[in-house]
Amino acid sequence: MSSWIKILDQAPKEGTMVEISIEGRDLFVTMNNSVLYCAENRCPHEDIKLTLGCLKGNRVKCSLHGYSFDLETGDSSEDDVDDMQTYAIKQENNKIYIEV
Ligand code: FES
Repeated sequence: MSSWIKILDQAPKEGTMVEISIEGRDLFVTMNNSVLYCAENRCPHEDIKLTLGCLKGNRVKCSLHGYSFDLETGDSSEDDVDDMQTYAIKQENNKIYIEV
């Protein structure tokens, strides 16, 4: 059964990626074009943090080989690379929650 848990007391600044660790998972939260996103902070290609990369359009681009992943759906730019794991995220009374 999934539940919403509070992860931050305020939203990240536009265009920044904030690393969080929650229930043994390493995730990142970002605000991109005024929309919040949360995803696993590990490239599905090889084991490297996606926060070492950058945001490009509505995607996060990995610093190692440049593959990118859709912030909303996790969709991988490469057919033979898994999609990124994403999480539902919401803001209530300024606090940020994700569904796990
Ligand atoms: S490790 Fe991320 S694209 Fe290769």
